[in-house]
Amino acid sequence: MIGAARYRTHTCLSAAEARGERVRVAGWVHRRRDHGGVVFIDLRDRSGILQLVFNPEAGEAHEQAQRLSPEDVLSVEGELVARDAATVNPRIPTGEVELRVTSVDVLSQAEPLPFSVEDEHVEANEELRLAHRYLDLRRPRRLAAMELRGRVVRATRAVLEEAGFLEVETPMLTRSTPEGARDFLVPSRLQRGSFYALPQSPQLFKQLLMVGGIERYYQVVRCFRDEDLRADRQPEFTQVDIEASFIEQEDIQSLIEDVFVAVWREIGVDLPVPFPRMTYRESVERFGTDRPDVRFGCEIQDWTPQAAASGLGVFAKVVEGGGVVRGIVVPGVGAGMSRKDLDGLVAEAQEVGAKGLVWAVPGPDGALRSSVKAEFLGGLAEAFGAVKGDLIAMVADAPHAALSVLGTLRVRWAERHGLVPQGTWAPLWVIDFPLVEWNADEKRWDSLHHPFTAPRPEDEAKISEQPGEVLALAYDVVMNGLELGGGSIRINRMDLQRKVFGLIGLDAEEAQARFGFLLRALELGAPPHGGVALGLDRMVMQLAGEKSIRDVIAFPKTATGADPLTGAPAGVDDIQLRDLGIRLRQPPA
Ligand code: AMO
Repeated sequence: MIGAARYRTHTCLSAAEARGERVRVAGWVHRRRDHGGVVFIDLRDRSGILQLVFNPEAGEAHEQAQRLSPEDVLSVEGELVARDAATVNPRIPTGEVELRVTSVDVLSQAEPLPFSVEDEHVEANEELRLAHRYLDLRRPRRLAAMELRGRVVRATRAVLEEAGFLEVETPMLTRSTPEGARDFLVPSRLQRGSFYALPQSPQLFKQLLMVGGIERYYQVVRCFRDEDLRADRQPEFTQVDIEASFIEQEDIQSLIEDVFVAVWREIGVDLPVPFPRMTYRESVERFGTDRPDVRFGCEIQDWTPQAAASGLGVFAKVVEGGGVVRGIVVPGVGAGMSRKDLDGLVAEAQEVGAKGLVWAVPGPDGALRSSVKAEFLGGLAEAFGAVKGDLIAMVADAPHAALSVLGTLRVRWAERHGLVPQGTWAPLWVIDFPLVEWNADEKRWDSLHHPFTAPRPEDEAKISEQPGEVLALAYDVVMNGLELGGGSIRINRMDLQRKVFGLIGLDAEEAQARFGFLLRALELGAPPHGGVALGLDRMVMQLAGEKSIRDVIAFPKTATGADPLTGAPAGVDDIQLRDLGIRLRQPPA
């Protein structure tokens, strides 16, 4: 639909097809140029940009054009003509034509702008941009991201609907759900002193929908998590949430592969399926993380046995204490580094949690430049496959700590030195996650996914004696080093659910108090079921080539969880608080 004829007969883009006709278009003044007599205006609507020409012969229209400012809203009428060959602009789809304007309606005038809409390269400060997000959204790049987001949702829905999934909405005012973050709470007026929690995900409801016989559920749904924000996290974000009955892990995986294929097609990319599978253990050993970026090498290698025999005190001590010595090779980047640069890497490693870092750079004659005496590192370059000018970095620590530091440095350095191939897509499934991990601070086992995740049937017997050895029917889908989704096959037996609750320290009473409604459902005929949730914002961010999910959310929050546009979060009236039975312990600052 184009709009009411009173405002426009064509969009900027469709007008380009109407050569020789009289047309009316409407939009914003994107740019104005006054060429001594003739005024040119680039008019912008959602479809694109059309050049308007105001000749002095146009009389009143020409005079009006001289007074127009950026972002005024116009409806203009005129004749659509071909441009002179010399002024054709091949960079835009309407570049061969222009509209010779005979009359102008100014529908709305814009005051001087807080930042330029036209010049996208001038990045206004984020606070200012978000406070005027509607201006920011007018910028073609933002608009393109919103359009892409819409297409991604449509493509996703098409695949799921075709596969017989039913979209069902679940409550926003609910009880705490266990995704491991803090809840956002909503006080109840009718039951003073009680609170709803906004859902961290619809996890329990989608399981209950399976018990309810829905069999195939999905929902494009907002989730809320009060956690520290990063470029790939927002306090409210959107999941494509999925659950199905009578299925196995592979069924969910191939469904999600179908979704990814359809979605990546939106940017003209054909993703090959099936995606590779990698076990959690292999992922952590090779890449130091459970979301490996496999587009480049620099994989983690082991130097523990050699380190133990090397005679270097720090290495020996760590290995004796049960630790490991692991390292990575970053090709070619050591050659240009000064001693100071290399020592800077040690500080950087410490920032990301290392106790220290041993670096080495093989020289022309096979000699090593290194942070410790080269005699302690005999055979290292050969063992690691490093050649002249490569950077070798090694960390000695407890296994988990060493791997995690190297995993972080590997990605940082590869990005910094341009070793990550651009324009390639490397999806994979990480599978066989442990069911639980040891929380050393609180001295207890924590679920790695959530407590409703089923153990592999063959591992059930180990739950009591060797919980750390139990693998789960859980899977994450990872793209280019970013976790885009995660899910699992769920527990559908009450006895097993109780056992797993017990393992993570929820005794029967507490389990009953928090999740009694789920346990009861499991007693009343729960089919085998499982599912997954995709992070829609993260997916669109990657597809749009943006660095932050804020860029693909219409009205995002800043790093402090604020919305500079509306001023949320904000104080409320005393009366509102009184109705809720709430008194602030500290008056607002
Ligand atoms: P999980 O917690 O792994 O699983 O979330 C699924 C996906 O949601 C995205 N995501 C986020 N995106 C933006 N901001 C955030 N704060 C944020 N947190 C998570 C990630 C993640 O992979 N109920 C389970 C799913 C299941 O078991 O079916 C769940 O929510 O891309």
